[in-house]
Amino acid sequence: MISKKMEETINEQIMHEFYSAHLYLAMAAYLESIDLPGFAKWMRIQYQEEVFHGMKMFDYVIERDGRAVVKQFDGVPEEWKSVNDVFESAYKHEQKVTSLINNMVDVALAEKDHASHIFLQWFVNEQVEEESTAKGIIQQLKLLGDSKAGLFQVDRELGQRVFTPPAE
Ligand SMILES: [Fe+2]
Ligand SMILES: [Fe+2]
Repeated sequence: MISKKMEETINEQIMHEFYSAHLYLAMAAYLESIDLPGFAKWMRIQYQEEVFHGMKMFDYVIERDGRAVVKQFDGVPEEWKSVNDVFESAYKHEQKVTSLINNMVDVALAEKDHASHIFLQWFVNEQVEEESTAKGIIQQLKLLGDSKAGLFQVDRELGQRVFTPPAE
């Protein structure tokens, strides 16, 4: 059975993952409002990924005979200044999530919880990818500068993204 400390830490993170989901859905709504449906589509997929992350932790707590808890979180922002601002915010947010995941790993080690330590490796890897994709889009946007044609092109490319549930 999972320790109370580990259980509490994962339950906190479930809340952060669902906050992330709502944040990205709010970003999708904003991007739709500035007529960038492809960028919005990308964020809709990001929403699905975050729900997947939250559920993966939820299922894990239950599998370890713990008590999963659905915690309330603060409201997410509704407005951004530009598409660039959205992706800068998303990147900063993922950096924060990375530090939360790293703290969870510290708890797993302190609790000598080897199963949780292994479980969390998936999220450690996921964060490397999350930060790098957000950073990649920021760089693409910087290269575009004020090019409307370029923005249209990237919007079309990002709109191709589909959600594929990662392998267990
Ligand atoms: Fe996540
Ligand atoms: Fe994420």
